[in-house]
Amino acid sequence: MKLFLDTAEFEEIRKMWAMGILDGVTTNPSLVAKSGRKFEDVILEICKLGVPSVSAEVVSTTAEGMVSEGRHLRGLHPSIYVKCPMTPEGLKATKTLAGEGTRVNVTLVFSANQALLAAKVGAAYVSPFIGRLDDQGQDGMELIEDIVTIYRNYHFPTQILVASVRHPIHVLDAARLGADICTMPFAVMEKLPQHPLTDIGLARFLKDWEKVPKG
Ligand code: E4P
Repeated sequence: MKLFLDTAEFEEIRKMWAMGILDGVTTNPSLVAKSGRKFEDVILEICKLGVPSVSAEVVSTTAEGMVSEGRHLRGLHPSIYVKCPMTPEGLKATKTLAGEGTRVNVTLVFSANQALLAAKVGAAYVSPFIGRLDDQGQDGMELIEDIVTIYRNYHFPTQILVASVRHPIHVLDAARLGADICTMPFAVMEKLPQHPLTDIGLARFLKDWEKVPKG
């Protein structure tokens, strides 16, 4: 499973990229606003680092507007995936952009039928928001299970990008279900390599090493 960071903070991306575990980055208008920086500056800085998949979201609400924004974004850098919302207009725009060879990430997906439609119009990624479903008392992981089944049934090439991740158990469950990608905040990704027994074990090894005769 590929691991993506869901952030527009360059420093966070740089740290995970340096660790060698990062496969991509997803952004959205709220994350870009939080960074306090200009949209295209943020996106290009991430692309130039070498991150192979960088999702940048359109903000138009008409298919025509999304297509024109999408074409512009795609032209900025070859690593860019254009994010279109799961609306009838977003589906139309996805069909057009995908037909031109642009890789589209269909976002704000909350049902399996929506995911089916995203695959039918040629989305490269579908982004089901599991944390927001959990927040309102619906099991987000059940949605991932359904999408995995549907995509397997029909051999859709659309990759399932598990989004709105809140904690490491979401990452584990996504991997168990065979999701293609999981995007998460920095706070979740930095927990993945950690285990108290690793720290205790390493401290013991280093202490014992001091007793080994040297020279
Ligand atoms: C995905 O691409 C979105 O940016 C995302 O994961 C939103 O998550 P949130 O529910 O934490 O805002």
